[in-house]
Parts: sequence; C-alpha cells; structure tokens
Amino acid sequence: MRTIVHLSDLHFGAADPVLVAALIQEVTRLAPDVVAVSGDLTQRARRAQFRAARDFLAALPAPLVVVPGNHDVPLYNVFARFATPLRGFRKHVVRETTQFVDDEVAVLGADTTRAFTIKDGGLTEYDVAQLVQQLNAVPSSAVRVLVCHHPFDQPHSRAARLTRPAPWRDAVMTLIEHGVDLFLTGHRHLSFAGHTAARYRVYGRSAIVVEAGTATSVRARGEANAFNVVRVDRHHVAVDRLAWHAASGRFQSANCERFDCAATGWTPSDVNGHAAMRAEPHA
Ligand SMILES: [Fe+2]
Ligand SMILES: [Fe+2]
Repeated sequence: MRTIVHLSDLHFGAADPVLVAALIQEVTRLAPDVVAVSGDLTQRARRAQFRAARDFLAALPAPLVVVPGNHDVPLYNVFARFATPLRGFRKHVVRETTQFVDDEVAVLGADTTRAFTIKDGGLTEYDVAQLVQQLNAVPSSAVRVLVCHHPFDQPHSRAARLTRPAPWRDAVMTLIEHGVDLFLTGHRHLSFAGHTAARYRVYGRSAIVVEAGTATSVRARGEANAFNVVRVDRHHVAVDRLAWHAASGRFQSANCERFDCAATGWTPSDVNGHAAMRAEPHA
C-alpha cells in the first residue's frame, strides 16, 4: 500500500499562516510515501509568493509531484503571460514536472495551464501522447495516478457537464484507456470523490476522480479548508478528507470514501465495505 497526501490550491499570498503551520505538522505526522500538489501554489504568481511556496514544500517530509495552476501564471503582466507563463513557477518552485514511480504506484504530473485563458485549462494532443508514453513505461503492477490542476470531470452542475468541450472528453477517455486509475485535481476549492464510469464509456475501465479543496487559502468557497490522504493498492483505494477544525486547531478526518477494483474498473465500495483499508483515526 502507498499513501499519497494530496494538497491543492495553497495560494501563498492569500494563505493563512496558522493553517500552513498546521498542515506541515499534519503531513509530517502522516509520513506519506509521496505528496501530490495539484496547482495554484500562489495567489498572483509573484516572486515572494513563489518563494513562500518553495519554503513550504521544502518543509514537507516526502518526495513531491507538483504541477502549476492558473494562478501560477501571471495575470496582469501580459507579455510574461504569453512569452514565459511558467517562468516564476519553474525558477522558484520546480524546474520541471516531476513524477514518483515505484512498483506499487506511479504518480505523474501534467501541466493543464494555458496562457490564453484566464481560468480554464486543458491538455493538447501532444500532452496526451506524452502522458501515454509515460503510462506505458511504468511497472504493470503500479496504480497509475495523474495529478493536474484542472478537473477532468464536472460533477457539480449538469449545465457544466453538458458544455464540457470535446477535447477534454477525448483526453480523459484516452488516458483511462491507457491505464490511469486515479485523477487528482483541484481548482474549484471543493472536495469531491467519484468515478468516471457513469459518463465515460471505456470498455472494462473506470477511473477514480478526486478533487481537493483549498488547503490553506483564506478564500474558501463555503467549505472548510481541507486536503486528502489517499491510500492505494491494486485492489482498494481509500480517500480520506481531512478538514480544518478551528476549535481544535488542526486538520481532522471529515469523511472517507472507498473504491474497489472490479472487472469493470474502479467502483465505490458497497455500504458494508469490502474495503480492506481503514482510514487512520485523526481525532
Ligand atoms: Fe485555486
Ligand atoms: Fe485554479
């Protein structure tokens, strides 16, 4: 089994320092195998914000897979936005998209930011082809995890689902076909865990979709600051959401969703739970 801590939307520049300190403490206690950070490390892509993000990442106790979000691309400096959109992120945070691969899990990062859109993102055909190559290269025993900022799924609104552009559907279906088991994303500052079979008919395959809320931003969208602890093996995935509990001054387990790998792909565990993995108590 491998433990992945999934953080997102840290937004240094608009991050609560109390939550930042508590997050480092909690992640250290969890001792994960890898930490995945799904973008928006800064509020406005400023140098001091990137440096604060870098110092935070350096304090974490595990290998990192870090991808940028739309807030890590300059918004007001139009020249920088189009000419060198990820310069600050690459200079101060991570030089290149990283990955973590062993026999049990392969955590791959993908950059979905786009200079020509303010908020939205996507993957080009070239990006998808590169990811397929990476997926083909990992050990067959490994659970395949893809980390990116923008959600591939739109579970929160029917209208949004219907207007999701076709390239996203093509990308997500291609990636599922080539073995992605689990998507880790952020961007909406809302937590979610579900599976893709209801909307993407890929024969014999269904992936898990996990979105993280914002771990540290003061701009929460009606949901407590939170992050995910994802425990994976070839047969079970447990997604434990840890939410900020102000009264105790720490992140605590808020809910846990479990999935089993069946012949048709990943599906939610039944109510009685075949899940062999139980989330650790965090109270
Ligand atoms: Fe964000
Ligand atoms: Fe975002």
